[in-house]
Amino acid sequence: TPAGLWDRYGRRATDMRLSLTDKCNLRCTYCMPAEGLEWLSKQAVMTGDEIVRLVRIGVNALGVRELRLTGGEPLVRADLVDIIAGIRADHPDLPISMTTNGVGLDKKAAALKAAGLTRINVSLDSLHEETFTKLTRRPFLDRVLAGVDAAWAAGLGPVKLNAVLMRGINDAESPDLLAWALDRGYELRFIEQMPLDADHGWTRRNMITAAEIRELLSRDFVLGPDPRERDGAPAERFEVRRRDTATGVASGPVLGTVGIIASVTEPFCSDCRRTRITAEGKIMSCLFSREEFDLLGLLREGATDAELAERWQDAMWVKPKAHGMDHTGLGAADFVQPDRSMSAIGG
Ligand code: GTP
Ligand code: 5AD
Ligand code: SF4
Repeated sequence: TPAGLWDRYGRRATDMRLSLTDKCNLRCTYCMPAEGLEWLSKQAVMTGDEIVRLVRIGVNALGVRELRLTGGEPLVRADLVDIIAGIRADHPDLPISMTTNGVGLDKKAAALKAAGLTRINVSLDSLHEETFTKLTRRPFLDRVLAGVDAAWAAGLGPVKLNAVLMRGINDAESPDLLAWALDRGYELRFIEQMPLDADHGWTRRNMITAAEIRELLSRDFVLGPDPRERDGAPAERFEVRRRDTATGVASGPVLGTVGIIASVTEPFCSDCRRTRITAEGKIMSCLFSREEFDLLGLLREGATDAELAERWQDAMWVKPKAHGMDHTGLGAADFVQPDRSMSAIGG
């Protein structure tokens, strides 16, 4: 087999998303139930050494060019800094990014940077204490804001922010959230909610669509095409200028960019470059794949690097063509919400 994580449809995964833990210290309604989930046992989760080995195989044998650490919440792992340092020691030039909820980031940002982390994305759905607490079920807005600023100060920029919009909760706030991010030089991305919540409460009607997001933002801003290549990224980026209230047209300079991640209504599966490893070392070829391939079990049985690489390739070969949410509408016979929530898959 030629090296590389190819699938039947000619896509090649070069972007590895690795979940460090299923645990989280927030309870965002679009992801987790209020009471949390039943966490994996410590034994079931990959150790730092196992993680470092799998990354080495991905990079050295299979053409992985970018690594993103996810969770659950990666910052809850006590050995996070050591894991990053371990990966960095093997791969001096690999871009290593992390997606985090930002809680505790203020204290760890400098150490993460020193260990070799390249950049960071932080989830931030609201700037209002009450709304933030309603959405995340934890009163940690100030800690998250401190985390975002600390990441920037530590040189972990460009900092990207992720906001999932929820109808009647934080949708009306979207232009203010964008103004706030532009002011500080952070790249905000608005995300369509996907049916990956543990409560199975997602409805098509309640999802704020990309078209609605553009409409909401047009109150204050004019969005124009961003000339940079999209490169298989989930986010479509736009250059942002102010809308002149008197004339209704764009005025002044480009203030920055905004991203829109339209997984449901404008899917980007045909250009997908992602391969995922869950915290328990299972390969998921897609967020919505129904089959999982156990890489960690094989590793613990004593498999060689070549054997592990082969299982990984087999798993990716059967990556679904697309998630199928867009055409069918949910509830249709051919789309079934995965059993796992976003936190258990890895964002
Ligand atoms: P950047 O390189 O910084 O742009 O990373 P990213 O946007 O890929 O990473 P991030 O972890 O911040 O993901 C942002 C959002 O993109 C997630 O919350 C998901 O909603 C969405 N996303 C990421 N990967 C996938 C994917 O494979 N499929 C789909 N449908 N959505 C994804
Ligand atoms: N739909 C879309 N995005 C989600 N995230 C978590 N759950 C969902 C969902 N159901 C996002 C978070 C975080 C990233 C890892 O995933 O906002 O930024
Ligand atoms: Fe890729 Fe699957 Fe996400 Fe589509 S839904 S972008 S195929 S991981």
